[in-house]
Amino acid sequence: MTYNIALIPGDGIGKEVVPEAVKIIAALSDRYDFDINYTDFPYSCEYYLKTGHMMPADGIEKLCASDAIFLGAVGDFQVPDHVSLWGLLIPIRRQMQQYVNLRPVRLLPGIRSPLADRKSEDIDFVVVRENNEGEYSQIGGRVYEGTDLEMVVQETVFTRMGVDRIMRYAFELAQKRSRKHLTSATKSNGIIHTMPFWDERFKAVSQHYPDVKTAQFHIDILTAHFVQHPDWFDVVVGSNLFGDILSDLGPAIAGSIGIAASANINPEKEFPSMFEPVHGSAPDIAGKGIANPIGTFWSAQMMLEFLGEIKAAEALMRAIEAVTAEHIFTPDLGGNATTEEFTEAVLSKLKGIR
Ligand code: NAD
Ligand code: IPM
Ligand code: MN
Repeated sequence: MTYNIALIPGDGIGKEVVPEAVKIIAALSDRYDFDINYTDFPYSCEYYLKTGHMMPADGIEKLCASDAIFLGAVGDFQVPDHVSLWGLLIPIRRQMQQYVNLRPVRLLPGIRSPLADRKSEDIDFVVVRENNEGEYSQIGGRVYEGTDLEMVVQETVFTRMGVDRIMRYAFELAQKRSRKHLTSATKSNGIIHTMPFWDERFKAVSQHYPDVKTAQFHIDILTAHFVQHPDWFDVVVGSNLFGDILSDLGPAIAGSIGIAASANINPEKEFPSMFEPVHGSAPDIAGKGIANPIGTFWSAQMMLEFLGEIKAAEALMRAIEAVTAEHIFTPDLGGNATTEEFTEAVLSKLKGIR
């Protein structure tokens, strides 16, 4: 099989970790007999500074010609964040109907959780983030700018279609996992229209999945439970913003934001899906060659699985775990390996895996 992959390294450490993942995928494609045709897209803040836009008007159309999109990170201090993200990452997620953002959280072998005494079996869950609506919306505006009467409004949008489809996805995922448990993140005590609706739909959709056990927590105490009882969670479904927050907190208790992977999925496959680490461009460490590439490798693993290259995906995860088990870490996990050294370690493990 040959797959067409659109590569968008983006900004900052995105440009450091994506080439490392390309090396890993090349090694896998040799061994597992598939081919990848990459098309490079320079869409980034640098591109914006040259052209005045993050991608050209036909950018989405061009990206649609691929089987999947592999992205690094977007963001640079020279461009306001809402301009760069709403110019590239967010339009891809929305226009390509990638309404599921899957973000696995696992304490990998050898990594020490910042939570005392937690073992691998205690931290193993998936955040299913609604990725197309909710708190992220363009609806709103500002009036009387610069005066004492200045006012801003930002609307939140929840549709029955949008809520039900993410919940169904989360229930179906929970059904496939051994614990069959789904937690819903809400805030229906303080947010009186959208969140009671979210709870109502959670209950209604749950009727179709009697084999899945459910729980529901307000987002405030849920963050506390992530820290104190990570073992309670199997699949966690949340709105766009709640899912965003939980998917930085989750990887933090599993060692580092640097390991966090994500898949922006269009389940109907009408559009390409996009795979990217959860972290941003990390301007504080960009250019130093020390970014943790695990989140990017794990995202590549999710992409290979999505494409159907199951054996290659399994081998990659085993190789990553074999390296972490030997305590080879980048500085964010307390080690002194560079990004490239970590990649070399994974490549050498891959040689030994069949
Ligand atoms: P960030 O994830 O870039 O960085 C947060 C902290 O985590 C920093 O200290 C950074 O050094 C560290 N970190 C992140 N990834 C790491 C890795 N792989 N290895 C080691 N350390 C790592 O978040 P931020 O500082 O809030 O945002 C920086 C920029 O990135 C902003 O412009 C923001 O809008 C953008 N951003 C983009 C994405 C994306 O493209 N998906 C995601 C989040 C933030
Ligand atoms: C993420 C990021 C983005 C988000 C930002 C950069 C817009 O934080 O992918 O988690 O909030 O979706
Ligand atoms: Mn985020």
